[in-house]
Amino acid sequence: MALNSDPPRAAASRDGHSPPPDTSSSLWWRWALVIGVPAALSAVFVWCGGWFSSRLTAPRIVDAFEATTSAHPGFRRNHAKGICVTGHFDSNGAGLVASRASVFEPGRYTVVGRLSFPGSDPAQDDRHGMVRSFALRIALPHGEEWRLAMNSAPIFAVRTPQALFEQLKASARDPKTGRPDPAKMDAFVAQHPEVQAFHRWVDAHPPSSRYGNARYYGISAFKTVDVQGAAHFVRWDVVPDSPYRPVDDAAQRDPDFLEHELVTQLANGPLRWHLMLNVALPGDPTDDSTRQWVDTPQRERIDAGTLVVDRAQTQIDGPCRDLTFDPTVLPDGIAPSSDPLLAARSSTYRVSSERRLQEEASARQGGS
Ligand code: HEM
Repeated sequence: MALNSDPPRAAASRDGHSPPPDTSSSLWWRWALVIGVPAALSAVFVWCGGWFSSRLTAPRIVDAFEATTSAHPGFRRNHAKGICVTGHFDSNGAGLVASRASVFEPGRYTVVGRLSFPGSDPAQDDRHGMVRSFALRIALPHGEEWRLAMNSAPIFAVRTPQALFEQLKASARDPKTGRPDPAKMDAFVAQHPEVQAFHRWVDAHPPSSRYGNARYYGISAFKTVDVQGAAHFVRWDVVPDSPYRPVDDAAQRDPDFLEHELVTQLANGPLRWHLMLNVALPGDPTDDSTRQWVDTPQRERIDAGTLVVDRAQTQIDGPCRDLTFDPTVLPDGIAPSSDPLLAARSSTYRVSSERRLQEEASARQGGS
């Protein structure tokens, strides 16, 4: 009805200069618009959510982590087993050579951290942890923060989020056997020769006997801007004061030896690490976490200060429980590089955290 009573069109046909409107084709176009535009918009939303295509999204990566184990509501989807720690970072000012970030101004900054190892099962035996991990949130003046998540291997197994997704798919738990299918992992490794460097590194470096005597690496490169405004690329690591010792069989009889050793060590005094900034040399890759930078005396390696851990608390009620150690939360003076893992980590950590916090909230509501 509204279509037929359109005044300008009616006038145009009456004055004889325009042909009478073809109401059937105009109706067709209008209905096409009414139905087609919302349908196209919905398709865009669906595509953006990744539900429709094979496009990789953070929820799909988190689903893939979840598929490697049974359900563990309320726990992190990776590095599920861990322990909260607190302490501080004593900055000595030397880091200002590479970055104007407030964390490198001399001073003491509060730290909340978490020691853990990769894997999605919070009850897994510590014997299975080939790599140890350390996450930190350093609180800085004026509401700034620096969040770091580091592993005890200097390289990552895969270069891209897509390759990580494929690796997780290959590690999915077969519901019949309760284990991954080794043939799938063999096929993945055959298609991703880059993972060999990581496997070689792990084979040559037995895991440390404790959380407190491991060196932890940020792995990805980050871009820094110094006080003069000059840009650099750096990779950081933290080097323990306690000398590295490989884990031995006797310690591994306790499935929770990492946590128990940590608590014992802290009863005897704080643990310390030096925060080292390694500055890129020309030609060093800054977007590829599978490639290590060459260890050479030409490289500037700055000891920026001491990280001190003096207390540990369980993750169920400790201060790290609700924290997400998103490595792209950085103070002014440090920025992400173009390493494709960084952006994927940011969104994936957020999804993992949203899921576990929601599960905890529902459990609390159910219990009240
Ligand atoms: C340079 C490579 C990486 C390093 C050094 C690293 C390190 C870490 C560490 C230390 C944690 C534990 C954080 C905590 O204690 O709360 C963690 C958690 C996690 N990682 Fe990574 N990671 C890397 C790459 C990735 C990538 C590429 C993804 C996926 C795109 C990923 C997904 C996750 C998830 C889902 C969690 C759990 C987050 C949470 O619930 O809080 N990681 N990672």
